[in-house]
Amino acid sequence: MGKERPLKRGGIGWLSLLPQLVVLLLLVVLTSNTFKKAEASGVTPEEAKLLRDEVREMFYHAFDGYMNHAFPLDELKPLSCGGEDSLGGYALTLIDSLDTLALLGDRERFTSSVDWIGKNLRFDINKTVSVFETTIRVLGGLLSAHFIASDYATGMRIPSYNDELLDLAVDLGRRMLPAFDTPTGIPFGSVNLLHGVDEHESKVTSTAGGGTLTLEFGILSRLTNDPIFEQVTKNAVRGLWARRSNLNLVGAHINVFTGEWTQKDAGIGTSIDSFYEYLLKAYLLFGDEEYLFIFQEAYAAAMQYLYNDPWYVEVNMDSGAIVWPLFNSLQAFWPGLQVLAGDINPAIRTHGAFFSVWRRYGFTPEGFNLATLTVQPGQKSYPLRPELIESTYWLYKATRDPRYLDAGRDMIASLQYGARCPCGYCHITDVEFHKKEDHMESFFLAETVKYLWLLFDLASGPDNLVENGPYKYIFSTEGHLLPATPQISLVKEHCSYLGAYCKSGDTKQEFRKSDISINAVEANGSSFFGSFAHSNHPSDSFFLESTTMSGLVKGVCPGLTHGQKYGISYLDTTNSIVGDESPRHVENAVRSHPSLVVSDESTLNAFSNNNSDQVEG
Ligand SMILES: *[C@@H]1O[C@H](CO)[C@@H](O)[C@H](O)[C@H]1NC(C)=O
Ligand SMILES: *[C@@H]1O[C@H](CO)[C@@H](O)[C@H](O)[C@H]1NC(C)=O
Ligand SMILES: *[C@@H]1O[C@H](CO)[C@@H](O)[C@H](O)[C@H]1NC(C)=O
Repeated sequence: MGKERPLKRGGIGWLSLLPQLVVLLLLVVLTSNTFKKAEASGVTPEEAKLLRDEVREMFYHAFDGYMNHAFPLDELKPLSCGGEDSLGGYALTLIDSLDTLALLGDRERFTSSVDWIGKNLRFDINKTVSVFETTIRVLGGLLSAHFIASDYATGMRIPSYNDELLDLAVDLGRRMLPAFDTPTGIPFGSVNLLHGVDEHESKVTSTAGGGTLTLEFGILSRLTNDPIFEQVTKNAVRGLWARRSNLNLVGAHINVFTGEWTQKDAGIGTSIDSFYEYLLKAYLLFGDEEYLFIFQEAYAAAMQYLYNDPWYVEVNMDSGAIVWPLFNSLQAFWPGLQVLAGDINPAIRTHGAFFSVWRRYGFTPEGFNLATLTVQPGQKSYPLRPELIESTYWLYKATRDPRYLDAGRDMIASLQYGARCPCGYCHITDVEFHKKEDHMESFFLAETVKYLWLLFDLASGPDNLVENGPYKYIFSTEGHLLPATPQISLVKEHCSYLGAYCKSGDTKQEFRKSDISINAVEANGSSFFGSFAHSNHPSDSFFLESTTMSGLVKGVCPGLTHGQKYGISYLDTTNSIVGDESPRHVENAVRSHPSLVVSDESTLNAFSNNNSDQVEG
């Protein structure tokens, strides 16, 4: 996580090196790949179980390391076996790990951890903290654990639990409210938990920082019946979206007072990523169509201007000119989001391309230059990020294609061989030389390990809350489990979400086919495909029959005139997805891509040959 961190720029002179050096560099890169493995045979069901249990052991190696050497400090130093405060000094890693403990079925440690937090945590402290990180890690961690601890249906209810975590979450949410008091509604990046916004606080924040708060704050409102939390975060999204460019793109950084973009590079990675994610997920969780309509437009623009099959570039939000031909590792969440949106074909291709970078180094570097085909200087690290693993899980869930298990096995091998440290798992400072750093972000336990475990539990069962539990779960951007309970989703108002993304040329019949193919895979009711919030509800068939097939995202409640209702310009979506003329069929998509690892030459060179001319201009 930590999705909004800006990347340092560098390496402007690469263009002059082309094309002679490309060949040379390719050779160097390929021969320096220390993780070249024997060609793997497919993962068998028995092996999936073993891998799942290996992931569980990975979790406990790091979790016990944290509890023994760092707790109650925020994070573990896995090399020196110490601890450090990195956010607010409130046992961050424990809070971030709670729902993973529950997912692994560890009632004992889940109970004692919830108990300790309820008794010891306080937020009336003189600390200035990131609104974004505090929301996704702490607020999200407390809320997801609250849902699990308070509900018999999860199998993890704690009898003595008395809403302590919810009370803490509400207190924390109120302490962050002063950040939203700006002319644009977009919050300050940081807030002091005791005093409100500091006098000299920066007025510039990232798009992800301002637009990734809706799930956690929305849940607070629906659990407390106090609309303020939902209102301020929705207002922040409106504030950002109102300042989109004519191309429907948003920039990376914005001044929350003037509303001017201070950084106009549009992209799906660093500083923006989870803005897109929360548009779709806020719709899925709350059924609030305003988010869906913004998502439709934002997604269509991203696919038109940022997608350079199979990669994504950064462009100037006004002109659409390419400014930065980089794969940055935060982009890797995107194929997973596309699975949720039902746009599986490009997700498969992009995941294959991103994974080819992982295979080359054993990890994904923070930045990989698509023109030079090398690690971007200054962006060589791999801080145990989950995004590619998250997308691997979603694509396996949607396609059940065993190559995603092979990918997961490769990732486990890399982590075990390259990142395991005496008391946990270490950041890799340089993916080419695999140098270890004495740091372990809390998201390693909240996300990285969680998605790996879910992948292999799905392949060998599944037997877990997410797949078999009483509710559909939306994953927050920190990997926290947010259940679509009736109270949260307001089921009666929640229209059926059919989850298949199409363009207007697709016919009803084609839609049915691809939808059925997904449902066949997911017939056990564990997916977001099919009717969303209430499978087996008699009205499902009604929605299937009456839904128009011309929207970008199907399943929109019939008969609404969204543009008028919300004042959002709602473009005719005809031709809004560039370069895809074929109807989407999951089966075909899977069959036509028999190999997961996209050939380095064809994928990488296609990009540099094609676009290198525009890049510097
Ligand atoms: C809060 O912390 C700041 C800096 O850490 C300090 O200058 C200030 O005096 C503190 N305020 C209170 C009320 O403790
Ligand atoms: C449900 O899952 C089980 C095992 O996970 C599988 O055997 C069964 O065929 C699935 N049901 C359907 C209808 O696909
Ligand atoms: C270059 O891009 C164009 C579209 O922008 C595409 O049609 C063409 O196939 C690409 N060329 C290569 C070599 O990939």
